[in-house]
Amino acid sequence: MSTTPTTGAAQRSRRDVHLNLFAHGCGHHSAAWRAPESPVERLGDITYWEELAVTAERGCFDAFFLADGQSAGLGGLGKGPRWFLEPLTTLTALSRATEHIGVICTVSATFWDPFHAARILASLDHISGGRAGVNIVTSMTDAEARNHGMERLPDHDERYGRAEEFTAVLRELWDSWPAEAIKADRSGSYADEEALQTIDHTGEHFAVAGPLNIPRLPQGRPVVVQAGASAPGRELAARFADGIYAVAWDFESAFEYRQDILSRARSHGREAEEITIMPGLVTYVAKTEDEAKEQQHRLNSLLPIEDSLRQLSFFIGQDAYDWDLDSPVPELPPLEEFTGPQGRYATVLRIIETTRPTVRELLGYLGAGGGHATFVGTPEQIADEILRWIDGGAADGFNLMPPRLPQGLEDFVELVVPVLQERGRFRGAYQGLTLRENLSG
Ligand SMILES: Cc1cc2nc3c(=O)[nH]c(=O)nc-3n(C[C@H](O)[C@H](O)[C@H](O)COP(=O)(O)O)c2cc1C
Repeated sequence: MSTTPTTGAAQRSRRDVHLNLFAHGCGHHSAAWRAPESPVERLGDITYWEELAVTAERGCFDAFFLADGQSAGLGGLGKGPRWFLEPLTTLTALSRATEHIGVICTVSATFWDPFHAARILASLDHISGGRAGVNIVTSMTDAEARNHGMERLPDHDERYGRAEEFTAVLRELWDSWPAEAIKADRSGSYADEEALQTIDHTGEHFAVAGPLNIPRLPQGRPVVVQAGASAPGRELAARFADGIYAVAWDFESAFEYRQDILSRARSHGREAEEITIMPGLVTYVAKTEDEAKEQQHRLNSLLPIEDSLRQLSFFIGQDAYDWDLDSPVPELPPLEEFTGPQGRYATVLRIIETTRPTVRELLGYLGAGGGHATFVGTPEQIADEILRWIDGGAADGFNLMPPRLPQGLEDFVELVVPVLQERGRFRGAYQGLTLRENLSG
C-alpha cells in the first residue's frame, strides 16, 4: 500500500490520449431517450450501468464519470429523464463489475459535509482498489439549495470559497491515518494511535477535528477533478485538480482554456504534467461520413422543435419561432452588441461560424452537449481531430459524451479506439492499477 499519492508525473508521455466516459441517462442528446431502441426503461437497473462500464473498460478508458444534481428537476421532467440512481452507490457497484477503469463521481461542496465526503470516497477507493475520483462542483440551482436547508444558492464567490476550504479539508482527512499506523499485532495492539493525526480544522465554513475513521487509501488520495469555467473555478482547478472537464466548442477556445489553466497552475508551483485537461466531446462515428451524418440527423429529428426553439430564442435574446428549420441560421448581431448572458451566445456564434448549420442542425448541436466539441465522421477523421487537439496543445484527452447510449459508446470503442491504438497513441491494455496511474500513463 503506498503512503504518498503517486503523481506519475515523471513517466507521463504527453503523446498518450486520455479518455473519460461521461455516462448520462440515455445519452447526452436531449432527444436520445425518445428513440425506439433507447434504454429509457433501464435507467434504474444497475446492469445497464454495469454494461456501460464494462464496454468503456473494453475500450481501455481511463475513467467512468457520473454527474450529480440534488433536485428532482421539476418543470423539466416532461422533456426527458433527469437523475435516477445515486452516483456514489452506483459507482461502488460498478467498481465490483470492472477491474481497471477509474470511477469518478460528482460531489457538491455547497451541500456536502467534508467528513462524510472524505469518508465515502475513501471507502470507494478501498473497495475499488485505488480507482476512485471526485469531481468537486459548487452546484447550480436554488431548487437544489431548498433540499439542503437553504432558500437559495449562496452566491458564486461564497460557493467557491467553501469549495476551496472543502477540498483542503478532504486532503487533510485523507492524509490523517497513515497505513503504517495499523499494526494488527494479534498479541499486542491493533493500531498505533500516536501515528494518527487530528486535523483540528476551524475555518469560515467547516470545523472538523479528524482524523478520518478510515485508514490510508490505496491511492493515498482519490483523484480530484474540477469542471468550473469561471475565474474562481479555474483557480480551484489550477490549485487542486488532477483532472479537468473542460467545455470548448472548437480548438481555439480549448487552447485558450488549457493555456490559462497551465499558467495559473505554474503560479501555484505545479507542472503541466500533473493535470489532465479533457474537453467534453460528442461524437457521431460510422464507417462512412454519410452514415455518421445520418445518425446525427436521425437524433436531431427526434427533438421536440417547440422546446428547442424556445431555448434557442432565450440563448440569442430574440424570437426564433418562425425561422425555417432547414435553411441556414440567419445572421446574428456580434457578441459586443448582445446584452444577455455572453458565454452561451458566444458558443452559438462559434457554432454558426465554424459549421454554417441549418436551424435544425444548430438545435441539434445545442441539444447534444450544448456547446461541447462535436466530431462527426469516419473513425479516421475523428482520430485525426482528437490528435490535432492534443498535439496542438488544446487538450490532454477527451471527456466522451456519447449522444446516445449504449450505441454511441460501442461505436467509439469498436471504431475509434482501434485507430488511436494503431497509431500508437492510446493504450492497448491497462498499465497500472489505480486511476491516478491511468491518468498518468
Ligand atoms: C463535464 C462537466 C460535468 C459537470 N458536472 C456537474 C455535476 O455533476 N453537477 C453540477 O452541479 N455541476 C456540474 N458541472 C458544472 C460545473 O461544475 C460548473 O458549475 C459550471 O461549469 C460553471 O462553472 P463556474 O461556476 O465556474 O462558472 C459540470 C460541468 C462540466 C463541464
